[in-house]
Amino acid sequence: MRTLVQGGTVVTATETTEADVVIEDEKVVAIGTGMSVEADTVIDATGRYVMPGGVDVHTHMELPFGGSFCSDDFETGTRAAAFGGTTTIVDFALQDYGEGLRQGLDRWFDKAKIATTDYGLHMIVREVNDQVLKEMDELVGEGVTSFKLFMAYPGVFMLDDASIFRAMRQAADSGALIMMHAENGGPIDVLIRQFLEEGKTDPVNHGLTRPPVMEGEAVHRVFKLAELAGTPAYIVHLSSRDALNAVREARDRGMPAFAETCPQYLYLSIDDMARPGFEGAKFVCSPPLRTADHQEELWKGLQGGDLQVVSTDHAPFNYVGQKDLGKDDFSKIPNGLPSVEDRFTLLYGGVEAGHIGLNRFVELVATAPAKMFGLYPRKGTIAPGSDADIVVFDPRVERTISAQAQHMRVDYSCYEGRKVRGLPEVVLQRGRILVKGGAFHGKPGQGRFIPRSRITS
Ligand code: URP
Ligand code: ZN
Ligand code: ZN
Repeated sequence: MRTLVQGGTVVTATETTEADVVIEDEKVVAIGTGMSVEADTVIDATGRYVMPGGVDVHTHMELPFGGSFCSDDFETGTRAAAFGGTTTIVDFALQDYGEGLRQGLDRWFDKAKIATTDYGLHMIVREVNDQVLKEMDELVGEGVTSFKLFMAYPGVFMLDDASIFRAMRQAADSGALIMMHAENGGPIDVLIRQFLEEGKTDPVNHGLTRPPVMEGEAVHRVFKLAELAGTPAYIVHLSSRDALNAVREARDRGMPAFAETCPQYLYLSIDDMARPGFEGAKFVCSPPLRTADHQEELWKGLQGGDLQVVSTDHAPFNYVGQKDLGKDDFSKIPNGLPSVEDRFTLLYGGVEAGHIGLNRFVELVATAPAKMFGLYPRKGTIAPGSDADIVVFDPRVERTISAQAQHMRVDYSCYEGRKVRGLPEVVLQRGRILVKGGAFHGKPGQGRFIPRSRITS
């Protein structure tokens, strides 16, 4: 089966060229001009960008959290991702208290059977003991090469420094990457209790009790612990100037220090959490949205390379029936925002606004996450031998984001009414059409688990 993507502008992390792309079965086999190729399927990409499928390395499908479950499962979430130009996600399997990593991972393999796009898995470690450390090595051997630890949420996810240090040493030995939720959960919990006692129960107080200084402190601690353990470390969902400065400081010392940010920290602010009534609950996530002045600094981090990845931290909860669990108490609002469908186009907004160039856009949305998490060069680029995961992106389309038009299984959009440019018009996975003409052509279960290689940074 041969497919030809014809007449477009092929954009990778390093090049922009007018070229055709030839696909044989699941792989890209040639990129060039003037080729005379007979194909079973021809996709006209005239006037469009031909880009690698997006790689979103931070999603939570059906995660149990805050007394509820994230409202997208692997079918609805990956379908929405595909509509938005993302063809590979890396989701977080969760260890429950009292169980080993294996059981948690197997539960996630079960959930992921209905995925419509390719996927990898990280593992969230909630308890560190000798057995868990051994299992970390086993998982690395199976292509689960990254582990998320939490410095926040005491009694739910939080680990102490000794446990974090033990897990880091294990990762250093096996070539795994430690990913950290970096907020200092102890003092934050004291503030939450104080605010509630003072009758401050509205959603905005979620943000006010998790100040940036506690993110900066935690990021600083991560890289000190990682230095002692002799391992790289990666900060997830970095939200603030304070945290970014701690990453910069570590990188300036020569540490393998990495971090991602997310669209919500680039475009939304604590003012959204302070919207009248209970609407601010739609924007409750952790770390919380910051004052708008942090955004410019994050864009600078993306420009200069101190931030390497933009992921979503897609963790959708319905406004009605889920977010309202915290109607009278902000600490009971399930934490997380939906955006797996919007990341590609929202980040392209950074090109439109002059924050980043087109090649850097492709690097941030596909190539760098694939490299960071052991998926490259199979994913994250368009090159002979790579999977034919391709987005034909029309940059001329103007549209308005709305809950009514989206495919994510959630009853609101954080970006309701925002005008954006660009549409992932045709989306291919391993040479097969997933999205075309506004319709979905994939099937539940056709997404494959992609074992990831060890981290080489
Ligand atoms: O608020 C968030 N970020 N929810 C998802 C879980 C996490 O910490 O990533
Ligand atoms: Zn987190
Ligand atoms: Zn997350």
